[in-house]
Amino acid sequence: MFALGLMLTLIPPTRRGTMSTAKPLAIEARGLRKSYGDNTVLDGIDLAVPEGTIFSLLGPNGAGKTTTVNILSTLIGADAGKAFIAGHDTARDADRVRGAIGVTGQFAAVDNLLTGTENLHLMGRLHHLGRKETRRRAAELIEQFDLVDAARRVPSTYSGGMRRRLDIAMSLMGDPRVIFLDEPTTGLDPRSRRTMWTIIRELVAGGVTILLTTQYLDEADQLADRIAVLDGGRIVAEGSADELKRLIPGGHVSLRLNRADQIEKAANALGANATDPEQLTIQVPGDSSVASLRSLIDALDRESIEVADLTVHTPDLDDVFLALTGRPEHTQESTR
Ligand SMILES: Nc1ncnc2c1ncn2[C@@H]1O[C@H](COP(=O)(O)OP(=O)(O)O)[C@@H](O)[C@H]1O
Ligand SMILES: [Mg+2]
Repeated sequence: MFALGLMLTLIPPTRRGTMSTAKPLAIEARGLRKSYGDNTVLDGIDLAVPEGTIFSLLGPNGAGKTTTVNILSTLIGADAGKAFIAGHDTARDADRVRGAIGVTGQFAAVDNLLTGTENLHLMGRLHHLGRKETRRRAAELIEQFDLVDAARRVPSTYSGGMRRRLDIAMSLMGDPRVIFLDEPTTGLDPRSRRTMWTIIRELVAGGVTILLTTQYLDEADQLADRIAVLDGGRIVAEGSADELKRLIPGGHVSLRLNRADQIEKAANALGANATDPEQLTIQVPGDSSVASLRSLIDALDRESIEVADLTVHTPDLDDVFLALTGRPEHTQESTR
């Protein structure tokens, strides 16, 4: 089957991980496994995330994203496998790992009885920052995350975007080197989503490493240096957004003809990979390059084929997901 063929052509992440990258790894996982009863949630996860990069774990509901984050952040143990954060073993050196990370959950850790400022101060105390440093950092983060008006209020009065911003600000109180963002934009309106993207880019520009989980292909495409597509507890593909897009057949051009009696002739002459006689359309391999379009138009001229219009389709990550899993991303159901 097509999807299987693709998977077999992928380089296993373990081998890629050992290829020498100049930067040390901020996050490394080897063969992580986790089951709940007879439900195998993680079925051998390998990760290698160089310092100062954004790595996205992309997958639908129930794929195992939060479970992975929980293991990497020492909240739960793995049944098998090893994980290292900034070189520290998550099982044997959990305290050091916790000292190096910030975690922002899909369900925010924000306390609703405390004001924004008080929440930040609480985090400062948890990190033993001292009174003066706690106040200084809290004030700085309130400014940076555009929470000045909100700081004196309790989070139950906040918008969704404000809560997420406070949640991230709280995780930054400890000055983490590695940040886990578990679906930071799920449920946000488009504008708050954009704001969150800007925040994430700024964090990485400041040198931290981010593991970002998301259900949104466009988010991973926009933000991540590398993407691992997680499906049913396995990584079914890994690479940059461009590499993943290259895994699937190139783009195609969709042509709508004027005359039904030219469909067959056009399909033969252009090597169409699909035709729809009812809609008078055919699909031919091609992309948006001038050379590709010119040769297509030359061929149409040669055969005197009349075309009403044409659209160029460039593969996106939705196509990748479909090709890898055999089903469209957006039709997936939660397994909960
Ligand atoms: N504490 C738990 N007990 C039992 N099953 C769990 C638990 N946590 C997660 N699961 C199951 O593990 C699978 C993956 O969950 P999760 O890691 O939360 O996925 P995601 O974050 O990608 O939506 C789901 O089938 C979920 O029901
Ligand atoms: Mg989750």
